[in-house]
Amino acid sequence: MTDILEPSQPTEAVRLLPASGAMPEDPAVSQALARTGPSALSRPEVENIDRLLPYLSYADGQLLIGGIPTADLWDGGRPMLLYVPERAVDNYRSIHAAFARYFDVSVCCAIKTCYLPGMLSALRAAGAGAEIASDLEWRIARRVGFPPERTVANGVGRSAQHLERLLGEEATLIGIDGEEDLERSEWHARRLGVKPKIMIRVNPLPPDAFFSERSKLGTEWDAAYGLLERAASSPHLDLRGLHAHQLVRCSNPEQFARLAGQMGELASSFATAGGTRLDIIDLGGGLESRFLLERDGYPIEAFAAAARDALAGVPDGFHLLLEPGRFIFSDAAVVLTGVRGTRRKADADWLIADVGCNVLPPTSDRAYPPLPLHLAAGQNWQRCHVADSTPQPSRLYLDALLPDDAPGHGLALIGCGAYTAVRASLWGTDLPDIAVLRDGRAEVVFDRSGQDAAMRHLYGLDLEGIG
Ligand SMILES: Cc1ncc(COP(=O)(O)O)c(C=O)c1O
Repeated sequence: MTDILEPSQPTEAVRLLPASGAMPEDPAVSQALARTGPSALSRPEVENIDRLLPYLSYADGQLLIGGIPTADLWDGGRPMLLYVPERAVDNYRSIHAAFARYFDVSVCCAIKTCYLPGMLSALRAAGAGAEIASDLEWRIARRVGFPPERTVANGVGRSAQHLERLLGEEATLIGIDGEEDLERSEWHARRLGVKPKIMIRVNPLPPDAFFSERSKLGTEWDAAYGLLERAASSPHLDLRGLHAHQLVRCSNPEQFARLAGQMGELASSFATAGGTRLDIIDLGGGLESRFLLERDGYPIEAFAAAARDALAGVPDGFHLLLEPGRFIFSDAAVVLTGVRGTRRKADADWLIADVGCNVLPPTSDRAYPPLPLHLAAGQNWQRCHVADSTPQPSRLYLDALLPDDAPGHGLALIGCGAYTAVRASLWGTDLPDIAVLRDGRAEVVFDRSGQDAAMRHLYGLDLEGIG
């Protein structure tokens, strides 16, 4: 049993047990436990991680992040969620450049994915815009300095206060989701004497698990025309475009092209039928993270080329908008974590990491691929599963391939930058420190004292002096 007075540092004592059978290194893992998520990283992919994520590499047996040895960034104590703004900026530049080859394009990053000012201000400085979905996010975008003309405001069921705030910034493009929101926007625009730029949100693809008739979002394809006509005839609204955000972790350019093609057709037929010319086509976000797309052989250039073909029939002169979240942020953060124990069950080894699902939601069985912090010749590699210590049957990554001394040195989990810190909850186990990599240093913005302060504010519970 672990002595509770011991520091929670990873120790050499925590090791994988010898596996009972031969462990395949093939990504097509035999008897894999995972049912959802991408194929498991192979050993060559782990060893050559820089080919997938150039800011990570191994030198002298150590994992480097942005060229800095992990040991110089992290003391091995509390887990750390470390954001890498340069990668987010590179992701933004890659998507912008790919689409700018064929389109007049703006990329407004969905800030709901990550609120860290260190990340957002780097993106803003690189020229990115912001997509916001609430009054809270509007305030965040303004504080970080995104100008209104580079802000796209989406949302459903806006409060009057939020709506009037948006209407007060005439440069902002406002997405309208449904008839009631249209009527309210019109009413408030008339009251304020403004004529806001709007776009109508539609659902162009057949229903899927997320955007079925059971989802509140987007206007059904059949009703879209009526809503567009209604918006176009309003003296108080400036109908400018069409919006869709329907893809969820799209990793296939053909699927993306279907969305683009449908949007193009609707925009063209609406204009031809005597409606307004819609000069903005907003294809939303919904793309898988960049490193996974590239791993699958579909770099973002393939999506841009697919959209060019799909939109070839739309008369020139329209502006394309993109609202990526996961693509920009997901692979721009890693979690460094110790392993506090192992669990052997049904002939499989589980590593129990210090970091919990209170910050890394288990969005698939293989959401956060683990890398060893230490690599050496002669290590024995084993299959194992990575989970946390919470009472939830959550998993961080199933069917990982790791050297058997990895638990003793700690792990780096990749793909941790999207929808993680923004959804962190004070539940179950400690939250990690949260830091931004700047000038070769991990600048900590949240630590245990921040967690205690959050406990105090949220629950009125003072933990100071306890432990
Ligand atoms: C309207 C809208 N745009 C963009 C995004 C970003 O999506 P993703 O992170 O999948 O790119 C979302 C996410 O929910 C959204 O609702």
